[in-house]
Amino acid sequence: MTADSPDITRFVDPASRLDPYPLLARFRAASPYVVSDGLLVAGRHADCSAVLRDPRMSSERYRSRLSPGVKGPRTRNFLDLDPPDHTRLRRLVVKAFTPRVVAKLEPRIRELTEGLFQEAARRDRFEIVSELAYPLPLRVICELLGVPFEDRDLFEDWSGKLSETLEPPFPGLVAPRASTDAVRARAEFITYFRELIAERRRSPRDDLVSHLVQAEESGDRLSETETLATCVLLINAGHETTVNLISNGVLALLNHPDQLKLLRENPALAPAAVEEVLRYDAPVQMTSRVARGDGHIGSLPVRDGDTVVLMLGAANRDPEVFDEPDTFDVTRPQGAKHLSFSAGPHFCVGAGLARLEARIAFELFVTRVAAPSLAEDGLMYKPNLTLRGPDRLTVLFDDIQAPS
Ligand code: HEM
Repeated sequence: MTADSPDITRFVDPASRLDPYPLLARFRAASPYVVSDGLLVAGRHADCSAVLRDPRMSSERYRSRLSPGVKGPRTRNFLDLDPPDHTRLRRLVVKAFTPRVVAKLEPRIRELTEGLFQEAARRDRFEIVSELAYPLPLRVICELLGVPFEDRDLFEDWSGKLSETLEPPFPGLVAPRASTDAVRARAEFITYFRELIAERRRSPRDDLVSHLVQAEESGDRLSETETLATCVLLINAGHETTVNLISNGVLALLNHPDQLKLLRENPALAPAAVEEVLRYDAPVQMTSRVARGDGHIGSLPVRDGDTVVLMLGAANRDPEVFDEPDTFDVTRPQGAKHLSFSAGPHFCVGAGLARLEARIAFELFVTRVAAPSLAEDGLMYKPNLTLRGPDRLTVLFDDIQAPS
């Protein structure tokens, strides 16, 4: 750490959640740098992008010299694996999320979103997180997997606890992967899916869990443990991230009425607005890699087993790549690529699905909700650093129009 390196404890402080970007700019400017023995930070777009694409940078985070180890039942999902296992498992899942498959989901997603707006219309305030941003992606991923949506309270509880395990190993944060709550949540998730998988083995349906079970039965491509781990990954990744994309987007639009107006007048801008929200306020603020062997990031030496935290949210506002990076502009040219869905071999499998859900949610929000405004005390952030988004986002409105 150099004299100008920003103080990581200030970043960890919950007070920084409201606007972490001035601090992130300092991380980026100082990066890449060493936070403590075995822990490095990269925040520049070029460094993050290079590390994400570098095969010597492992996603097998348990290799880290800092790793406290996971207690309880072990299921390693492919987000945490390198080739060849990563390639084999990912290949089985991507088929369910191709652009063609995702496009076919649009009518159902629109119907669900319309339903949530119509329910909100009966009330005098719209709590965006619990009444739109959370239930929409959770319901969609439940339907795709073939998991009963009625069990949503269980998933909400378990996923919330598991999202702690994604926190970076920064000083001042408890060793999250080992937390008792997370260990219990993981065990309960596994028991739940073990029963569901057994049920689908007996009577298969046309859903993703049944398809994974069939892949398992048709050869050695997938073990039972891998099927379980993949189900837990998909249900979590499928909603704990998109909730923040939708909420961060609604908040950005409320905070920038000119942009909201632009989008209302020209809904064709909605896909660009989704990309701008992803860039401006990344739902997944960071990920990490562990060095296999010694090397460098830029001129900074990296040793075998070092953990590199990649500040995606900082990279997305790198002035070397984006003009006026702190400006929220839904008409921004789409040339430069944000890193919110990662890059390289682990690029988000569900990016197309998340984009579709968010586009429909934003289209309806700007065209149906008359005179939206943030309620007093309507904004509270989740404590998480990695999965960034509001815990509560309450919007007042004059009216929510029904579909014409
Ligand atoms: C706004 C919403 C989302 C964001 C910001 C997001 C972000 C990410 C990021 C950053 C990664 C890679 C992490 C790394 O490289 O270490 C990732 C991977 C992944 N995401 Fe998403 N995600 C979103 C939605 C979804 C959805 C809806 C699904 C549903 C299926 C999904 C499934 C996955 C899976 C399976 C992986 C692992 C890919 C791999 O390791 O090869 N994500 N996501």
